[in-house]
Amino acid sequence: MDLTAMFSMTYGLYVVSAEADGVRSACLVNTATQVTAEPPRLIVSVHKDNFTANVIARAGAFTVTAVDMTADMKYIGNFGFRTSADYDKFANFNVATSAVGSPYVTDHACAMMACHLLETLDAGTHRIFMGEIVECARLSDAPPLTYAYYHGTLKGKTPPKAASYKA
Ligand SMILES: Cc1cc2nc3c(=O)[nH]c(=O)nc-3n(C[C@H](O)[C@H](O)[C@H](O)COP(=O)(O)O)c2cc1C
Repeated sequence: MDLTAMFSMTYGLYVVSAEADGVRSACLVNTATQVTAEPPRLIVSVHKDNFTANVIARAGAFTVTAVDMTADMKYIGNFGFRTSADYDKFANFNVATSAVGSPYVTDHACAMMACHLLETLDAGTHRIFMGEIVECARLSDAPPLTYAYYHGTLKGKTPPKAASYKA
């Protein structure tokens, strides 16, 4: 198998967030996609060891923001290279609360989608959460950041817990 074939798949970058029992959590993912339009549903793939996976499961809800082109590596590092287990990723940003009760950061995000959790699929290392969108809005006119731009221009790395990681 030539796994470099997988490099032909294109993605954006998203922050997935949730809150349960007063604990808030967020992580960066490239693996978010709309799966149906009527009703509007999306899926996100979150590593089981990411703190956010358990918070989403407990909350029964999550919110996704689409990272936009104004984001820098510090912002990406905040959500993608640190864990909410011992650090508040929301502390230095403007935070809103979605219709499903998730906190989400409005900075460097061009859109938000709030979801009730419908199904969870065990994908081995990751859990795939399928959500029904109950609230969504555009947050800025900036274009969304692509995974290709992250790799090619920002020279970003892919950490082991990313669904697209390759050793
Ligand atoms: C560019 C990039 C893409 C990522 N994609 C994913 C992904 O699709 N799924 C995932 O579970 N983690 C992904 N990660 C890793 C998580 O963002 C990272 O493990 C994070 O620290 C988890 O935070 P948490 O412990 O607060 O949940 C990605 C990280 C980066 C930098």
